[in-house]
Amino acid sequence: MLDYPEEQDEVVRKRPKALITGITGQDGSYLAELLLKKGYQIYGIVRPSSVSRVERIEHLLGRLSIVPGDVTDLPSVIRAVEVAQPDEVYNLAAQSFVPTSWQEPFATAHVTALGVTNCLEAVRVVNPAIRFYQASSSEMFGNAQESPQNEQTPFHPRSPYGVSKVYGHLITVNYRESYGIFACSGILFNHESPRRGEDFVTRKITRAAARIALGLQAKLQLGNLEAKRDWGFAGDYVEAMWRMLQAESPGEYVIATGVVHSVREFVEKAFEHVDLDWREFVEVDPRLTRPAEVHCLVGDATKARRELRWAPRVAFEALVDMMVDQDVEKAEKHENLGRRYRGSNSLKETEEESQVVDARQR
Ligand code: NAP
Ligand code: GDD
Repeated sequence: MLDYPEEQDEVVRKRPKALITGITGQDGSYLAELLLKKGYQIYGIVRPSSVSRVERIEHLLGRLSIVPGDVTDLPSVIRAVEVAQPDEVYNLAAQSFVPTSWQEPFATAHVTALGVTNCLEAVRVVNPAIRFYQASSSEMFGNAQESPQNEQTPFHPRSPYGVSKVYGHLITVNYRESYGIFACSGILFNHESPRRGEDFVTRKITRAAARIALGLQAKLQLGNLEAKRDWGFAGDYVEAMWRMLQAESPGEYVIATGVVHSVREFVEKAFEHVDLDWREFVEVDPRLTRPAEVHCLVGDATKARRELRWAPRVAFEALVDMMVDQDVEKAEKHENLGRRYRGSNSLKETEEESQVVDARQR
């Protein structure tokens, strides 16, 4: 299924073109919005199996072109690059949930590590002048030897996901050095939004705070409350991706706020926003802890500030409030719809939904 506009207009043909893998994900949706605002023509690689999971880009569907493909399948990536003839490729596709990477280390490596080589190969074969962005991660620092982490900090990944990201990062550098491709690697620290997947700790917390406040959920089970992260807003971070590809020369950039908070502090803030005392609702479930934890990550984005003129706009408190508010809104809508079908407010059913989310981690 190819769905891209056959635009003949001279002005339209001069619009820059971008191909995004992982466009159905959190970052893909924000990046597509940003690039559309900047006048880009957008192509998004979407796995045929995920056509029903396009909620995050539903509002953009008439304005971008979906190309079927899978980053583990080189011919499909080459075809997508041939169809789009992009100026820029953003590789955001990944199996990005850390706990799943212990359950499925091979599948994670196929997508998150080798998928990067496929994207770079497609660029090299079709048009090596295309600029390439790789979504690298602060998980590569893992058990970090210094704090805060910068572009020179050695990697010590603690999960199969982190190991795969190190491969993706290094192969990106290698294609730049081997073939002169304008290939950039953004080492992004955790970034969140109301579109964050429900398994990730921030969204799991804001969703639970909203639902508990509305009487739809009784408890929230979490793992390690002492883990610390540098949490920013995804909308700010996609701006950094774009800026990397507009720079004079390609490179690696840490993208972070430089401010660190614990999971416990995140919980406290989220529950406070709906006037609840978190200690009455949060339970620690040891099955949600990880085989090897990353205890603390905090980034030093000095290089990005200096060379890209990039800085985060949304602070921690505003991010938590934004996520809780939108989860309250979503829960109210969902519950009103549900009531229409079920005929009553069923706490049991909504509790079962929460357990499905936790099951992915155990
Ligand atoms: P996400 O919401 O999990 O999105 C991942 C995307 O990858 C989805 O669109 C998914 O498509 C797609 N995908 C998975 N397997 C694929 C395959 N085989 N072929 C093509 N597409 C595939 O992740 P995100 O939070 O937006 O993050 C975007 C990227 O940044 C990821 O590479 C992630 O590892 C990296 N990153 C994220 C953060 C963060 O804090 N968010 C920090 C550092 C780095 P489906 O809809 O089909 O599943
Ligand atoms: N998911 C989850 N669920 N995490 C929990 C829970 C829980 O119930 N309880 C405590 N945590 C802790 C985890 O142990 C971890 O230390 C921290 O919360 C953050 O977990 P996640 O939100 O799952 O994110 P992550 O830091 O492991 O990975 C995210 O950020 C990376 C960048 O550093 C993902 O988006 C990765 O794809 C990304 O690369």
